[in-house]
Amino acid sequence: MEERKTVVVTGATRGIGRAIVEKFAKEGVNVAFTYNSNEKLAEEIARDLEERYGIKARAYRLNILKLEEFKPLFEAIDQDFDRVDYFVSNAMIYGRSVVGGYGKFMKLRPMKGLLNIYIATVGAFVSGSQEAVKRMKKVGGGAIVTLSSTGNLVYIDNYAGHGTNKAAVEAMSRYASTELGEFNIRVNAVSGGPIETDALRAFTNYQEVKEETIKRSALNRMGTPDDIAGAVYFLCSDEAGWITGQTLIVDGGTTFK
Ligand SMILES: NC(=O)c1ccc[n+]([C@@H]2O[C@H](COP(=O)([O-])OP(=O)(O)OC[C@H]3O[C@@H](n4cnc5c(N)ncnc54)[C@H](OP(=O)(O)O)[C@@H]3O)[C@@H](O)[C@H]2O)c1
Repeated sequence: MEERKTVVVTGATRGIGRAIVEKFAKEGVNVAFTYNSNEKLAEEIARDLEERYGIKARAYRLNILKLEEFKPLFEAIDQDFDRVDYFVSNAMIYGRSVVGGYGKFMKLRPMKGLLNIYIATVGAFVSGSQEAVKRMKKVGGGAIVTLSSTGNLVYIDNYAGHGTNKAAVEAMSRYASTELGEFNIRVNAVSGGPIETDALRAFTNYQEVKEETIKRSALNRMGTPDDIAGAVYFLCSDEAGWITGQTLIVDGGTTFK
């Protein structure tokens, strides 16, 4: 029997990350995922995935504002899993750590929240991918996906800090794809429109964003975490074998309208 592949996903206790680990587990992929504060929930998710899908699932603590934690994280994953095939850079900070980064342009504080968003978005993608690539090389290749958002293409209130860093991480993923192709490693981004999650519910103008999204969507509804998970899985699968350095926009048609 062919050895099961392994995906590493950051921030999978809730929202999009939770849907991503569900999708990979359902497809028979072993899952190593991280949490920041919700340890109990993370352990429950791991147990539940193992029971329902017969795969191996383990949860690890990671704070993406402490990039030095990526090395020990992957060393811990090495103890539990034989291989790493896919890496999904998904986790995102919120609350106090984004103060000075989530807000109007004139209120941005470059060395506070804005810098934190850079570390959590571009920094975490770079540090996580570097560790993942070392393992992917040993198994002859792999795939990396970073989460982005259409807030780097269209104006969203208070989103300048996040939107600009999503643009940066998309560009970084194209650089990575160009340099990692020779190792049979593909790198892509999935850029989501507004998706119904805790992160979105934390927006000060959540209700307005929701109504506007439904109005703008050609499909007349909000996006769900499953909508994003399917695209992430596709980009990691063999079906996407010649797709690299791309951003797949999953927005229900909201960006064009
Ligand atoms: N929601 C949207 O509308 C939308 C649209 C497009 C793109 N995205 C992107 O999709 C990704 C996931 O977003 P989401 O809406 O699913 O977020 P979410 O529901 O708020 O979940 C965030 C996840 O990140 C973890 N996390 C929080 N702070 C962390 C930290 N300091 N270090 C490590 N992990 C941390 C959380 O773990 P704990 O539960 O343990 O705290 C949780 O698992 C993000 O990159 C986001 O920008 C979201």
